[in-house]
Amino acid sequence: MSCVLVVGGGGREHALAWVLSRSRHIDRLLVAPGNPGTATCDGAENVAISAGDIAGLVALCRRESVALAVIGPEDPLAAGIVDALAAAGVAAFGPGAACARLEASKAHCKQFLIDNRIPTAAAEVFGDPDAASAHLAARPDVPVVKASGLAAGKGVIVPDTREEAAAAIRDMLVERRFGSAGEQILLEERLFGREVSVLAFCDGERFAVLPPAQDHKRLLVGDEGPNTGGMGAFTPSPVMDDRLIEQIGREIISPTLAALRASGTPYRGLLYAGLMITEVGPKVIEFNCRFGDPETQAVLPLLRSDLFEIMVACATGSLSDVSVDWAPVASVGIVMASARYPTAAGEPVRIFGLDAAAEAGCVVFHAGTGIIDGAIHATGGRVLTVTATGPDVAAAAGRAYRGVAAIGFEGAQHRADIGLSRAGVPA
Ligand code: AMP
Ligand code: GLY
Repeated sequence: MSCVLVVGGGGREHALAWVLSRSRHIDRLLVAPGNPGTATCDGAENVAISAGDIAGLVALCRRESVALAVIGPEDPLAAGIVDALAAAGVAAFGPGAACARLEASKAHCKQFLIDNRIPTAAAEVFGDPDAASAHLAARPDVPVVKASGLAAGKGVIVPDTREEAAAAIRDMLVERRFGSAGEQILLEERLFGREVSVLAFCDGERFAVLPPAQDHKRLLVGDEGPNTGGMGAFTPSPVMDDRLIEQIGREIISPTLAALRASGTPYRGLLYAGLMITEVGPKVIEFNCRFGDPETQAVLPLLRSDLFEIMVACATGSLSDVSVDWAPVASVGIVMASARYPTAAGEPVRIFGLDAAAEAGCVVFHAGTGIIDGAIHATGGRVLTVTATGPDVAAAAGRAYRGVAAIGFEGAQHRADIGLSRAGVPA
């Protein structure tokens, strides 16, 4: 029996801990820092070490003889936590810093894609605002403006007019709205088509694709309002079929893994490819080097195989030795966010109805929650993901929305159309 550490404290990490707690190989599950939800998983305990404290996490793993550390968020991956754990003899699920740069630097990712002839949008990199503005004035189209560094999913502006593009350039390179993440920007050809994500377990050489899920990034019904970390997700996605998944594997995932392996930094962990299906085929918009949030909360409950076995196989290059089997049903995860999300946190407010949601057949994953005077409170940001499964997406959504209706906290926001509209899908 093994002790496993999950690093992170959001809804994604609660889902990871919840699924791992069902593994027949695990008798102890540490979550750092975790949240009130992770503390309730079988055999789990929260440890008050932040996801950014790499030295503290390495010491914890050694002290507790952790057999596998599962890294949720991108920041510690980019900061090299997996390399630090490897140096201390601790196995980890997640890529090393060299691979995690694919997410942490969009400029690096673009160069990697171009060097390896992996389809992507054309882009130019700028650090100087005058050079970027001159380039904008000279080109015939209106490009997408992207901060190169990690900006919590908010560093991409898709302008409709040249003026908006010019303002975004100023915002990033002059006003430094994204700090050092926006020291370099990309001006990128705008792609048109259907947007999809493909997530795959990778062992450095082979990969196994997860059931395709569709995220809803905008705050409001009908894909209106500001971009968020994600307001809900459902699977199966109506825009994906087996042929497209096979094509994406062949044209994008395989060459990516082959190139990283050839350069001596094999990708081991979860690769998340954000793609646009254009008229000339799938093209990469971005790579993330970790599970998606809230995609994970919707998809992972469908895993029938042992997640620990899969993760160890990824870490040791033996994915072909394990089965990766999914229940052939639908799943919907609906995010409930605090009143002022995505702009501010606000005061903590008490959450009611969590037990009633569970009785309605939902699994409720925690993110921005805390215990105050013995009661669970919403403490800001994305607070909960209410997840339910069913024979089809409509049935799963119906059940998940009954769970949402059972839960109350002051100012709670959610989208009423997760899994119910076909937003973004051409009629
Ligand atoms: P990213 O953080 O790179 O995934 O970008 C956030 C969102 O901006 C994506 O999910 C797309 O909807 C949009 N986006 C990014 N790059 C492009 C592009 N080249 N063309 C069109 N839309 C894009
Ligand atoms: N849901 C999008 C992400 O995790 O990046």
